[in-house]
Amino acid sequence: MANLPVPITTKEPLTMVQPTTLGEFIVENQRDFPFASGELSQLLTSIRLAAKVVNREINKAGLADILGAIGTENVQGEQQQKLDVMANDTFMRALRSMGQVCGVASEEEDSFIGFEDEIHADAKYIVLMDPLDGSSNIDVNVSVGTIFSIYRRISPAGSPVSLKDFLQPGDAQIAAGYVVYGSSTMLVYTTGNGVNGFTLDPSIGVFCLSHPNMTIPEEGKIYSVNEGNYVHFPTGVKQYLKYCQEYDEATNRPYTSRYIGSLVSDFHRNLIKGGVYLYPTGTMAPNGKLRLLYECNPLAFIVEQAGGMATNGAQRILEIDPTELHQRVPIFIGSPRMVETAHAFLQKYKE
Ligand code: AHG
Ligand code: MN
Ligand code: MN
Repeated sequence: MANLPVPITTKEPLTMVQPTTLGEFIVENQRDFPFASGELSQLLTSIRLAAKVVNREINKAGLADILGAIGTENVQGEQQQKLDVMANDTFMRALRSMGQVCGVASEEEDSFIGFEDEIHADAKYIVLMDPLDGSSNIDVNVSVGTIFSIYRRISPAGSPVSLKDFLQPGDAQIAAGYVVYGSSTMLVYTTGNGVNGFTLDPSIGVFCLSHPNMTIPEEGKIYSVNEGNYVHFPTGVKQYLKYCQEYDEATNRPYTSRYIGSLVSDFHRNLIKGGVYLYPTGTMAPNGKLRLLYECNPLAFIVEQAGGMATNGAQRILEIDPTELHQRVPIFIGSPRMVETAHAFLQKYKE
C-alpha cells in the first residue's frame, strides 16, 4: 500500500493577524457618515480603484513611453505631462462609471464636467480633484500624489450641475483625501470623523489600514517652503523664516528645512512628523500658487481633522468663499502651534 500523507494536527489556534482592508473599513464606518446610504462608500471605492490604476502606471513610468510633457498647457498655463492626462482620464472614467457623482472639476480641465446621462440622474455628489500633484517631479522619480474633495450638490437632483455646486466653501466638504505614490503607496482620507491612512500591499493589490486615527503633532521641527522665492515674500514671512533658522535651545530651533516640491508628499511628511508648509503670496504670485478647490481645501479638511491648522494667513482656508474654479490662495498649513507663530509674524509685520 502506498504511503499516504500523514495529516498534521495541532491544538494551537492559527493566529495570523488580518489587516483591515480599505474596503472593509469603508463599510464598517458607513454609519458614522451623516447621510449614510452606501453611496459615499461606493464613490470611495471608485477612487480607490482609480488610485491603483494610476499607481500601476506611475510605477512603470520609466519603462513605458509615458514620461515627459504632452505639448499642451492646462487652463492655468502649465505644461501638461503625459501622466497628468493619464491620471485625469483614469479618475474621470472611474467616477463616471458609477452612479453617485453628477459632476467633476479637475485642475487639468478648463471647466467642470457634468455627467448628464440616465445613470447619473439621481447622483448627489460632486468631486474636485488634482489628479496628479507634483507632476513636474515625475521624470526624476520623486513621489507624486492625487488629491480629491467631495461635496453634496446644491442644485436639485435631476437638473444639470452648475458652477455654484463647485464653488462651495471647504467647510461643506463631505470627504477629502489624497494618495501619495511614494516609496509605498498610501491613501489617506477623512469623512469628518478623524483621519485614517491605508498602505497599498502591492502583492495583493489591496489598501490595508496602516495609520489609524492620524493626528498631527502640536509642534514640529520642520518648515517647508520654496526658499528660492524668498525675495518675493512679504516681510512677515521673511521674518518668520528667520525665526525658523535662529538658534534657541528652548524652542528646538533652528528647525529643519524640507521641501520636495510635491505638495502631497510635503504635507504627508509634516502630518506624520509635525511641521509647517507655506506657500505665501509673493510679488510674482500675488495669490500664492496653490489652488483653493483642488489642493488647499481637501488638505485643510484633513489637517483640521488631524488636529492641525490651515489658513491663508488671516482666515481659515475652509471658510473662504470661492469665486472661481481655478482660484489660487496663499496657504499656511500644518502643526497648530507653528501656524499660529507664523500668524504672529504676519500680524507684527503687516504691510
Ligand atoms: P501640480 O503638479 O498639481 O501642478 O502641483 C504643483 C504644486 C505642488 O505640488 C507643489 O507643492 C508646488 O506646486 C511646488 O511649486 P514650486 O515649484 O513653485 O515650489
Ligand atoms: Mn498640485
Ligand atoms: Mn496636478
